[in-house]
Amino acid sequence: MGIDQRRWRWWNAVVLIGMVSVTVTVTSSDSHEKQEQEVSRIAFGSCSNQNAPQPIWDAVVDFRPQIFIWLGDNIYGDFKRPFKIFGRERTVGPWKNVPRFVPSSEQEMKARYEKAKSSPGYVRLHQNAKVIGTWDDHDYGLNDAGKEFQGKITNQKLLLDFLDEPQDSPRRKQAGVYASYTYGPVGRDIKIVLLDTRYHRDPVGSDGTILGNSQWLWLEKELKGPATALTIIGSSIQVISNLSATIHPLFAMESWGRFPKERDRIFKLIADSKRAGVFFISGDVHFGEITRYDCAVGYPLYDVTSSGVTQSVEEVVPPFLRSFVRFVALLTPSTMRVKGQHCRYKSCIYGRPNFGTIEIDWDSHPVTLKLKVRDKESITVTGVDVSLTELQLSNSESFDRAKAGHDNQKHCTLEVSLPWFVRYRLAILFCCTLIVFHVAFLALVYTCFRLFRLEGCKRKHD
Ligand SMILES: *[C@@H]1O[C@H](CO)[C@@H](O)[C@H](O)[C@H]1NC(C)=O
Repeated sequence: MGIDQRRWRWWNAVVLIGMVSVTVTVTSSDSHEKQEQEVSRIAFGSCSNQNAPQPIWDAVVDFRPQIFIWLGDNIYGDFKRPFKIFGRERTVGPWKNVPRFVPSSEQEMKARYEKAKSSPGYVRLHQNAKVIGTWDDHDYGLNDAGKEFQGKITNQKLLLDFLDEPQDSPRRKQAGVYASYTYGPVGRDIKIVLLDTRYHRDPVGSDGTILGNSQWLWLEKELKGPATALTIIGSSIQVISNLSATIHPLFAMESWGRFPKERDRIFKLIADSKRAGVFFISGDVHFGEITRYDCAVGYPLYDVTSSGVTQSVEEVVPPFLRSFVRFVALLTPSTMRVKGQHCRYKSCIYGRPNFGTIEIDWDSHPVTLKLKVRDKESITVTGVDVSLTELQLSNSESFDRAKAGHDNQKHCTLEVSLPWFVRYRLAILFCCTLIVFHVAFLALVYTCFRLFRLEGCKRKHD
């Protein structure tokens, strides 16, 4: 792709953020922000490499979100450059120098902004849209880093600058970037809780804390506070799926599943708070999927994962290997994945650039939610329709209702409880393939050797 075109795409992102920051009166971020306007369209995304083309923004803008949520890896600003596997190197140095935050020419920015103002998408966006977000490891500053990372204080400021957090916001004074927002009139209100899964996180494998004490206390207050029709908890890493359990020892992923005690704690907190209408959104893994856990809080807990805006598992491999990646996705066992009718691929995983959307039809009876992951043309690649009555604490009816929907399975089995030959089938297949290749190679060497000797004998004979 030509440099110009790439820059142009780039500017779409700048314009989206620019439009929002310029035109929305940011009253801000008191962690109990209240806005009365009804919200029915939310978009979210993660894993956005500032050095890659970002054509997906056209689709995001066309969706006309009233709120856009960044779920982390909003830029790749690692303090150390990670190696490059395939293709482009992903990171640049300290992230304050990233062009997204510093438009290289103010004039150009202004021109784009004027142009955007006359397009139909602009009106809705400028009246309503708000961009909020949290971080993951690469904008926190280091791959897979937790509380030990030295640069976290500086980078907290950088993230909050990126999000246009007002200078006097309490969010700038606390340790970590967690925040909560409430939108909409009573009865149609949505609470969005954004977690910080980095600042206080103990090392992976310690089964220690993800959120840390102060954030847990805050979260408890948030969830036990006034009820809202919906509560969306944004976590940079996946909450429901425990992919590590099934791809181990080939790969390892970060997730709440790697911290079983913390995971139980958040489920227990939701259950104890008696809060209805809670679901998760997440990013991080470089593919999109929807998962659901039915045995945590008395109603199905969904986790809609969208990752990434640019970074995705199929993009890092050469095109001829993409169907292989899809085959591997199909083989990877998952007990939590929702396999609805709206899947692009059989696995219900989508490994190319994507963003997530939440549409709420407040006027239908009962109120319905459409949870979707969309591709760069805005076409649904996996999605599920959920009625708000399904997300009530009531009883087992929720499950029956959910079962009557698209997905007949009750999602209660943890990945670690799968029979070993299912759980490890990816690793088993990998080993078998290796063995076959080895044997084939040895056979080839042996045959050559025999031929060579035969030839030698023949020559001697002659
Ligand atoms: C997730 O998988 C890891 C790795 O196999 C395991 O240690 C952990 O206990 C699992 N967590 C849950 C909640 O099953």
